[in-house]
Amino acid sequence: DLVGRGVAGALPLFLLVSCGKEQSALDAAGRDAEAIRNIFWVTLVGACILWVLVNGAFYTLTRLRTRPMGDGFVRPLLIGGGIVAPSVLLIGLLVWALNILPDQRAPGDGLQVRVTGEQWWWRVEYWPEGAEEPVVTANEIRLPAGQRTEFVLAADRVIHSFWIPSLGGKMDMFPGRETRVSLHPERPGRYRGQCAEFCGVSHAWMAFAAVVMPEDEFDAWLEREAGDAVAPESAEAMRGQALFRSEGCGACHAVRGTEAVGQVGPDLTHVGSRETLGAGRLGTTLAEFERWIAHTGELKPEVRMPTYDHLDDGQIADMAAYLKGLK
Ligand code: CUA
Repeated sequence: DLVGRGVAGALPLFLLVSCGKEQSALDAAGRDAEAIRNIFWVTLVGACILWVLVNGAFYTLTRLRTRPMGDGFVRPLLIGGGIVAPSVLLIGLLVWALNILPDQRAPGDGLQVRVTGEQWWWRVEYWPEGAEEPVVTANEIRLPAGQRTEFVLAADRVIHSFWIPSLGGKMDMFPGRETRVSLHPERPGRYRGQCAEFCGVSHAWMAFAAVVMPEDEFDAWLEREAGDAVAPESAEAMRGQALFRSEGCGACHAVRGTEAVGQVGPDLTHVGSRETLGAGRLGTTLAEFERWIAHTGELKPEVRMPTYDHLDDGQIADMAAYLKGLK
């Protein structure tokens, strides 16, 4: 009976089995996430100890009550197991946790990234130390390992929340107000960020790739990212670019180095080199570019980007070739 209850109590732990590695606060890849992971495990162990203590005291009490000699133990057990032990343990855990809780507002080492939550994608601006203008991109955040980067967060019309579980705690993003959080990634790799505040129909599809790179690789990447888009080379991609023009895509999207300077949607200057399309919705193979263009509204309900299903297959393939080539 007692064993049965113990097993039932531990059942919720199996929910953790479903936590994937790509987006897990327990798979820490930086200082802030490490602190949170440690707090989680220590608190969990503390809670288990507390559970055993309180239930042990309760169980002993129910046994003692049936014995005439047991009355003398009731009071010390109630006070010890019901008040003193839980208080000491909980206060101890609280003090320890407050002590190692990461400082989300710790100053950065120079690089500042401004992220704006849009419905349902991420506007991203890199401001290296001393920069006069930002490097603009979207739906992907790359960070140098071994450095603390400061994020300045805002939102378009509704509240969003910025969260990269493997790198640290989340922070809400508000329209008309700036919030800040700083993260210190340490282990290079590819992680997943996700909007953590319900922001409308496609909230679940508002994700991004967070890529932590060795510092020199990051510097080289940022330099490339700051450059203009490459001109299309293949006949297909050239037709795609003409179509991009005639369909008016540049009214919403910017492709630096061309006449497309729209600010409504994500910057597409180097969209072909990103890990995901549609803010984490799809990968970036040619087939996925085609799928995105032809089925936008199904893939991301109520998104402002129109579905270009009036184009024929050949035109969609051309457009995909142009976008895929934007590296
Ligand atoms: Cu943005 Cu949920």
